Amino acid sequence: MKTAIILASSREQGNTHQLAHLYMEHQTCDLFNLSDYAISAFDYQHRNKNDDFKVLIKTLITYDHLIFATPVYWYAMSAQMKVFVDRLSDLLTIEKTLGRALKGKSCSLLATGEDNEAPECFIAPFNLLANYLGINFTSSFYCCCRKNFIKQEHVN
Ligand SMILES: Cc1cc2nc3c(=O)[nH]c(=O)nc-3n(C[C@H](O)[C@H](O)[C@H](O)COP(=O)(O)O)c2cc1C
Repeated sequence: MKTAIILASSREQGNTHQLAHLYMEHQTCDLFNLSDYAISAFDYQHRNKNDDFKVLIKTLITYDHLIFATPVYWYAMSAQMKVFVDRLSDLLTIEKTLGRALKGKSCSLLATGEDNEAPECFIAPFNLLANYLGINFTSSFYCCCRKNFIKQEHVN
């Protein structure tokens, strides 16, 4: 299964980045770091239709499974992930063909945070979003990172 990780963190070598890379040591997949793309906030007038969102989504629809990788920031996904997720709305309006290409795919969630567990309100939007777009939400994996991410603690 061709898998893509969509990484959205405010820290380049931070915990979520490290969790994504640990995952990649065990599973063949490609990483797309949203910080490498210029994607602006959803615009009702679609004046940003030529930014990097379409380029990225055209690539992502060639994958079978999409993994959203985000830290928990104030009980929610990162701002970078929220901008990306909001832009998926383009696929319901000006890019319907690309939207239809997402149907039948699967997705999951990789997340880090300080609390023992990810709050339900953090996971729910991914589940609901996937459901709305006709994508099968398969699982979520949350890694509690009190200080810095220590690989050894999470592979055993
Ligand atoms: C702005 C901000 C808000 C945060 N809010 C939460 C939170 O609501 N719940 C939580 O468990 N951790 C919270 N944290 C801790 C981060 O989720 C945790 O350190 C995470 O592993 C950071 O990942 P990163 O290195 O990819 O940024 C917050 C951190 C920041 C910087």
